[in-house]
Amino acid sequence: MSREKFYITTPIYYPSDDLHIGHAYCSVAADTMAKYKRLRGYDVFFLTGTDEHGQKIEEVARERGLEPQEFVDRMVVKIKDLWKLMHVDYDGFIRTTDPKHVKAVQDIFVRLHENGDIYEGVYEGWYCTPCESFWTESQLVDGMCPDCGRPVEKTREKSYFFRLSKYEDRLRELFSEHSDFVEPVSRAHEMINNFLEVGLEDLAVSRSNFSWGIPLPFDEESIAYVWVDALSNYISALGYPFDPELFDRYWPADVHLVGKEIMRFHSLIWPAILMALDLPLPKKVFGHGWLLFEGGKMSKSKGNVVDPTILVERYGLDALRYFLLREFPFGSDGNYSTEALIKRSNSDLSNDLGNLLSRVVAMIKQSFPEGFPAEKDFAEIDAELTALADETVTKVERHFEKMEFSLVLESIWRLISQSNKYIDLTTPWILAKEEKSRSRLAAVLYTLADVLRRVAVWLSPFMVDTPAKMREQLGISAAGSETDAELSSWESAAESGLYRDDFIVQKGQAIFPRIDLEAEMKALEKLD
Ligand code: ME8
Ligand code: MG
Repeated sequence: MSREKFYITTPIYYPSDDLHIGHAYCSVAADTMAKYKRLRGYDVFFLTGTDEHGQKIEEVARERGLEPQEFVDRMVVKIKDLWKLMHVDYDGFIRTTDPKHVKAVQDIFVRLHENGDIYEGVYEGWYCTPCESFWTESQLVDGMCPDCGRPVEKTREKSYFFRLSKYEDRLRELFSEHSDFVEPVSRAHEMINNFLEVGLEDLAVSRSNFSWGIPLPFDEESIAYVWVDALSNYISALGYPFDPELFDRYWPADVHLVGKEIMRFHSLIWPAILMALDLPLPKKVFGHGWLLFEGGKMSKSKGNVVDPTILVERYGLDALRYFLLREFPFGSDGNYSTEALIKRSNSDLSNDLGNLLSRVVAMIKQSFPEGFPAEKDFAEIDAELTALADETVTKVERHFEKMEFSLVLESIWRLISQSNKYIDLTTPWILAKEEKSRSRLAAVLYTLADVLRRVAVWLSPFMVDTPAKMREQLGISAAGSETDAELSSWESAAESGLYRDDFIVQKGQAIFPRIDLEAEMKALEKLD
């Protein structure tokens, strides 16, 4: 029987500058979702990559005295290193300068041209180079780009146009028949009100006043507009149209994850192009919110605190990945601050999770260093905590399916804090004093160890090292790689009682050492 597939993508980022924590945010989310789906047994393809053509890249390369190709080659090495460091474990990395992508884009243009969906004209209007967007006079806001607020330049050049207007009705139908095509739903409303209701104009899809792009086969003086070039990555990376094996296996995408600012390209222009190519449409475009920095949009010029490499070095990868997905509801904007990251790490990771693990392991070590006795006295209260753990399974899965990462984590943390309360309530240190409470003590500590075993599995899409460290301290991995693999599976976390009496706990180091907030804030000031 063939497994169900799951195809998830991130935007392909511009390698015009080093990536910052905002880019890492989207990639970590996509990676977490991919890891979750893999654990659920899906045949997953997770695609990311780089958007290497266009006027902006050409300008930046020239400023640095490099040929654009040489410049992007260097940048891509750094980007891949970053994803390696962050365990963004993609299945495909597409570069728009890859020859197979270039050929695919040329083929797409030829098809659209032959179908009459592309015609020649002259583009006269405004262009925002940072956004690589065309704007009409009336769309500008106070003479600036309506998306990023930066200055636009006037341009007049020969252009081919894509008949976007022809697809307006079908796009309207798409939005009305598939109310979950765009999520969160507020972003669907934005697309309908700001664009579909106003009416779509044909789109300039080629440029001719600079050269860093994919030449059109039917007019070598013209290059593909960088957004059409970029959007095509989602199918060219799967081998469309020349080597359709992966394409047939994975297309249509289950979800394109994108920042809210590029929703228009993904939910209007991209589907229209696919309609013109007579290809199936992606099932969903999810527009996540922005991480804001000191109230504004993030950029590399904001310094070290937005550099993910530095954050990983100082606070650890798992704390960073946890923070990103816990702190901000995925569809909304949020204010990034390193202070909030440290506070989260100290409270949720060091205090709640870290202490729970180390307390439980220490108490088991003390009272049952050779494992638990077979007969345990499970009283009412144990059933209560286990029932909460059972409910947590359902919540975790439900929120994961909706990409509500912060809610997944909240429900796991409800169980963690309940477990800490359970310790205070059952007072195992008092039980440990009396021989007659021994079977009760075994039940209490076993219940906790079994909950921690399950928590480790639920955390494994989010965190890279922590679940293994937890299993090590709980004595699961020492029981052999088969047992370890079995108890790392998603299914195992749905069941209670799989922690074995013969596991031997091992005391280890604190999984999340506390960070001295004040000292760290001072150290950061010096760094910037
Ligand atoms: O737009 N907060 O690339 P890009 C949250 N090449 N997410 C952020 C962010 C922030 N402050 N800053 C960036 C492009 N992102 C095109 C995409 S796709 C066919 C072509 C994330 O380098 C977010 O996902 O400007 C956003 O959409 C993406 O990076 C934009 O990256
Ligand atoms: Mg951008």
